[in-house]
Order: sequence, then structure tokens, then C-alpha cells
Amino acid sequence: QTKLLAVAVMLFQVASCSESSAVLEPLFRHIDQRQNDFVQRLREWVAIPSDSSQPSLWGEVERMLHVAADKITAMGGTVEFADVGSHELPSGASLRRPPVILAQFEKEPKKATLCFYGHVDVQPANKEDGWATEPFNLTEIDGNLYGRGASDNKGPVLAWLHAIETYLATKQEVPVNIKLVLEGLEESGSDGLEELIQQRNDTFFSDVDYIVISDNVWLSRRPALTYGTRGSTYFFVEVEGPKIDLHSGVFGGCVQEPVGDLIALLGSLLDHRGKILVPGIYESVAPVTEEESKSYQDLHFDLEEMKQEIGVECFLQDTKEAMLMARWRYPSLSIHGIEGAFSQPGSKTVIPRRVVGKFSIRQVPNMEPAVVEKQVTEHLHRVFTRRRSPNKLKVSATVGAKAWVADLKDPQYIAGRRAVKAVFGGEPELIREGSTIPVAHNFQELTGKSVMMLPIGGHDDAEHSEKEKISRYNFIEGTKLFAAYFYELSQLQQSPQKM
Ligand SMILES: *[C@@H]1O[C@H](CO)[C@@H](O)[C@H](O)[C@H]1NC(C)=O
Ligand SMILES: *[C@@H]1O[C@H](CO)[C@@H](O)[C@H](O)[C@H]1NC(C)=O
Repeated sequence: QTKLLAVAVMLFQVASCSESSAVLEPLFRHIDQRQNDFVQRLREWVAIPSDSSQPSLWGEVERMLHVAADKITAMGGTVEFADVGSHELPSGASLRRPPVILAQFEKEPKKATLCFYGHVDVQPANKEDGWATEPFNLTEIDGNLYGRGASDNKGPVLAWLHAIETYLATKQEVPVNIKLVLEGLEESGSDGLEELIQQRNDTFFSDVDYIVISDNVWLSRRPALTYGTRGSTYFFVEVEGPKIDLHSGVFGGCVQEPVGDLIALLGSLLDHRGKILVPGIYESVAPVTEEESKSYQDLHFDLEEMKQEIGVECFLQDTKEAMLMARWRYPSLSIHGIEGAFSQPGSKTVIPRRVVGKFSIRQVPNMEPAVVEKQVTEHLHRVFTRRRSPNKLKVSATVGAKAWVADLKDPQYIAGRRAVKAVFGGEPELIREGSTIPVAHNFQELTGKSVMMLPIGGHDDAEHSEKEKISRYNFIEGTKLFAAYFYELSQLQQSPQKM
């Protein structure tokens, strides 16, 4: 009987497998055939220098948003340019921020609704920064497409649109309802986006089932699904002493120096192995489950290669597993600098009257930023009190974003794994990001919807640097991945028993 059952299951798998290839093969073939056109379109998008770092450049960001909107309407979608308020200029005048595109395609109530988030603004780029190619002229060298925004995030946004276009061109119905959120201020803090999501929670987002973000990269040469990001809190520690800067020949040895206090405070934060010494800080960190622990074993991450790349002799961890855990799922504290001291070269002999130390803590599930802030503040005041310093201490913090972690059993991740298998023939690496990507957490927190990060960029895409690129392979296979993802998600929706 079990044998029969096994045969039935196998036949079922073969059937569903050939069904999937009947749908996907024509799509994949079309994408391969059109790949030069797709690369050309990326070239046109990269040619628009939509650098959002300065309000004076926002005209190009707006132009880019209109090009994206035109592409969407040409495919039959509808576009709303949603207002996200104004930015106040130093002159006191106010400037309307580039709007956010809220787009949707025709809706069929019985299908699941999938919303893609991406951005079409970019980091600044000048040839003089050391680019080997013109940053806004997409240039192909050895299969890599170099240009600002190629990977972050114009390539992935276009791959998503091309996946939809491919269904339309091959006369297949897009198997899910599609919505898009495209913004033009991601590289400068996404001002206004959170408020917009809140405002539209009961309208635009109400029928959304799943949200996909493709704004990060793989860990290795293998495809990946990203299920977590770290949060961060940034701290300022100010020590203020005399009312004027002093001469060390006159007052050295006579006053308690603010720099000395500050260095003792900063020195109390970490031990020599990078462990945070603030009492209680590790208490709420989510414990490592056996399943999670196992998931690190198969990841491709070369410690030796990484050492060479950044020029260090050793890391604080000895194994790949330990290092990735340190990066993804444990908190870390980094000291970033001191304002008001050491700022000039040469042997100045001043005693600075006021200094501000800056450090940040990357946070992980289930740490609460407010609790961390309290723990750190109390710790610094305790250390300071022990020094019996007559100076004044002030600790303040700005909370960046909370950590985010998704449930790998969520249908999105199941569909994502199947889509990766359909395109690349193997399982994806299940990874997290050590850095802070507020948008994933914000979407999940504000809309209550399931969020997945589905990257298509390569591990060596060098986003933000003067070597930014996406490979033709990643761009084209990534387009297939999105097309396959629409299909796999619709299959889960129709027959959840297949999960
Ligand atoms: C981009 O670069 C190519 C060759 O590298 C050159 O032929 C072309 O004229 C450039 N385009 C622009 C707009 O600068
Ligand atoms: C947004 O709407 C969803 C229902 O679609 C609801 O579950 C969620 O609580 C709402 N979020 C906020 C912040 O009100």
C-alpha cells in the first residue's frame, strides 16, 4: 500500500513538474530571445542620472519615475503618483519630494495579489571617483553590465517589469495580481514613505497578500532568499568640561579632561573579542534553534577570500558559521568617531572642552530598541559615576530601524524556493543581511502582510561603489526567476495541499 502511495505521489510530482515546465519554458525562451532588448532598456534607465542625494538633482529622479510609469502604462497597468510631502530647504523654501509610484494591473479577485517594492533613484556617481567606465553609460565587460543603479535597484525593477511583459508577450495570463510601489528617495532615507504606507493601508494595501523586495544581493555565486535584516540604534555620548578649550602646558594635570572621560566610556563598551559589555544586552537575543544552526552549514562563504579582500589577518570568529552568525543574528557594536577632538593633523596641544563620541549597535530579533537605549545609557552613567568626573555627560540616541526576520514556512518562501529550483536547478541559500534595510520591517509592521526579499544581484555587484554592476546572467536569469515566482505562488494558492 505504501508502495502504491509512493508511486502515486511520484506520478503526481511528474505531472505537476511537466505542467510547470509547459508554462515556464515558453517564458524562459522568450526571455532568452529578448535579452538584448532587456539590456538595452536597462542602458536607457541607467542613462538617467537619478541621484537623489541632493534636492537640486530631483528633477532627474522625477524624469526617471515618469519613464518607469510610462513603461507600466504601456503594459496596461495604471499608475498613481502619490504625494509624499515636501522637503524644507536651508533657505526656508520648501520643495515637493519626488512622488511614489503606486501601480496596479488588472485584478482578478480569485488570484493572489503580489506587491513589488523597488526604487529608481541611485547613489551619486562621478567618473572622477575612480570609475573605469562612464557611470551613467551602461558598459558590458566580460558579461558584466557596469553602471550606477545597474544592480541597486534599476536592474531588479526592470527584471520585474520584464517578467510581466514576458507573460503578456507570450499570451499567457499573469497568474497573480500585480501591484508595484516604486520610490525615488530610497538612497536618501525614503522620507514620506512610511506615512504613505500608513495612509494607504486600508486602500492600496488592503488586498495585497504578499510583498516582495529585491534590493539586496546573493551571498555567493548561488541564488538566495533573504529572510532577515538587523536593526540599528545610533548613539551620541557627549562629555563637556571647561567653558573654553585649554592649553595642556598650563592646565594639563590640573583639570579632568573630557577626552579622557570619553575614551574611558567608549572603552567600557566592548571587550577585546568584540563582545558587548553593556549588562543585559544579550538577554533578549533570540536563541539559536537546531534547525537554524544547521542552515549555516551549506552556505558558501569563504573566510580566506574575505580576509584577502579587506586586508586583515584574522577575524574574531574562526569558522564560517560563527562569522555569519556574528553578522546576521547577534548584535554588534561599532565605534564610528569622536567629534571635537583629533580633527587636525599635526601636534596641537589643546585640551578640547567638549567632545562627542559616536557609536552604533546593530540589533537582532527580539531586541527592543527602547530597552537597548536604556541599558546603554545606564551603563555609561554608571561608568562615568565611578570616575567621579566633574564634567557633564549626556547620552542620546537615534533609533534607526528594528530587526526583521521572516518565517521560512511562509508560502512566499516555499514559492521562492521552487522558483529558484525551476530556474537554477538547485536550492537557494537562505540568508540574512547584517545591515539595516528598514523597508522590509516597515512593510511587515505597517501592513501586517508577508514580506520576502528575493535578490537577483550577484555577491560582487559592489553596490554604492565605483564598480557597481549586474551581470547579464543575473539580470536575465533574475527575470526568469520573477516570472517563475509568479507561477509558483499561484500554484500554492490554488492547491495548498501541495505545500
Ligand atoms: C557609451 O559608451 C560607448 C562605448 O563605451 C560609446 O560608444 C557611447 O558613445 C557612449 N554613450 C554615451 C551616451 O556616452
Ligand atoms: C493594516 O491593515 C491590515 C489589514 O489589511 C491590518 O491587519 C493591520 O493591522 C493594519 N495596520 C495598521 C497599522 O493599522
